[in-house]
Amino acid sequence: MTILSQNLTITVAPNASTHRIDRRVYGQFAEHLGRCVYEGLWVGPDSEIPNKNGLRKDSIAALRQIKVPVVRWPGGCFADEYHWLKGVGPERQPMVNNHWGGVIEPNVFGTHEYFELLNQLDAEAYINGNLGSGTVQEMTDWIEYMTLESTSPMAELRKSHGRVQPWKIEFFGVGNENWGCGGNMPPEHYASLYRQYQTYVRNYGDNHIQKIACGPNADDYNWTDVVMSSAGKYMDMLSLHYYTIPTGDFSAKGLALDFDEQEWHDTLAQTRRMEELISRHSAIMDIHDPRKRVGLAVDEWGTWYDVEPGTNPGFLFQQNTIRDALVAAINLNIFHRHADRVRMANIAQMVNVLQAMLLTDGPALIKTPTYHVFDLYSDHQDADYVPTVGDLGEQGDCTVSHKDDAYTISLVNAGLDHEIGAAVQLPGQISEVLRAQGITGATHTSHNTFDAPDAVSPADLDGLRVDGRHLRVTLPPRSVATVRVSLVE
Ligand code: AHR
Repeated sequence: MTILSQNLTITVAPNASTHRIDRRVYGQFAEHLGRCVYEGLWVGPDSEIPNKNGLRKDSIAALRQIKVPVVRWPGGCFADEYHWLKGVGPERQPMVNNHWGGVIEPNVFGTHEYFELLNQLDAEAYINGNLGSGTVQEMTDWIEYMTLESTSPMAELRKSHGRVQPWKIEFFGVGNENWGCGGNMPPEHYASLYRQYQTYVRNYGDNHIQKIACGPNADDYNWTDVVMSSAGKYMDMLSLHYYTIPTGDFSAKGLALDFDEQEWHDTLAQTRRMEELISRHSAIMDIHDPRKRVGLAVDEWGTWYDVEPGTNPGFLFQQNTIRDALVAAINLNIFHRHADRVRMANIAQMVNVLQAMLLTDGPALIKTPTYHVFDLYSDHQDADYVPTVGDLGEQGDCTVSHKDDAYTISLVNAGLDHEIGAAVQLPGQISEVLRAQGITGATHTSHNTFDAPDAVSPADLDGLRVDGRHLRVTLPPRSVATVRVSLVE
């Protein structure tokens, strides 16, 4: 039975100090893992699946709609085994993808194809380099290959492969999870290697690369302290990886579709840990970098379940329900609150892997509930975060932001059996409602399938009321809503 909780009011506090929500917290992650790059994005120019230069048109169109700002590639654990020279030129050299199913990686999708993906998405580059098993020479050659315009062996090689102009690289990661799959290093060892490798991540011409150091796994605060203390001045960002695992136990994580109401609440409690992790890592960073020059890049986050029964365990394929939508919205709200330090976040992963935006099956494609949250939240990109006073109760959460003379208000009800009557007081008379949409699930496991692709999809909000400076919304259980309004001048 659904009960109406008491009406709760939040008041927008326009004069409180604020910060910009960097659009890059809406970043994505595409690893050579399972069916993310191959099938999900790349089908090749000869495929019967409609494509442009080998990239499937339906994926690109859907991803353009949510304004993907940046794509992290090629991994993940894959990055520290990737040797980029095998993935350029006419003679591609296959390799074994040891981390992900031991399958043959054909290296058909390489540097040139990645920049074509960015070009079609209109997104920025975030390349993760190989520190775990690659050499300094290999890393510096790759930078030269991609970004040096003038005559040099690497620039000439690029030109011989058909690309005359250099590309721009906005972000470069020096290793990935080097405390684990990227070399099992203690932080002192990684910090020394980071200082060495990053020296050769050079800026050519007017290209300016922001260097990202491998940061901690979840609550490894010692890693942050050691790496910031030793190498903080050589980096622009430090990464943080934290996944939502319903049980908190990596060996038995829980399933994407088959879970009870207790597991719903446990999952969201695991998600809310992100707030404490960011606060505590940020406080340690403050000791070494009080002016917050170094950003935190939460460059892997999202739900991680046991794989769908019957699928390759190395491919990390999982379904996505209204629970994932709530996980996405709560995480994004946390990133917004901490956007003075969190300058990028990359959900894992873009297509067919972990908490994906899109799922594909041959030529068919569906959008997940998570995708719809990224769509509902897209107006927060590069907006000013607006602090609020009051709250929406234990299961509620919200973000208010301001951009282009309009306020965007996103509201969450993570409860399973009660509505929230939310009143939002704006700092002036509301003149126009520009958008009012939300998603909810008929049950706590509602999700989209190839037979029912729109079971969970945005609908116009019922019962929205505007009353002077107040916006009144009833949030059903299991829901995320966004209202965008302009005020009378
Ligand atoms: O996203 C899947 C894997 O999770 C990544 O390859 C790795 O960095 C992390 O452990």
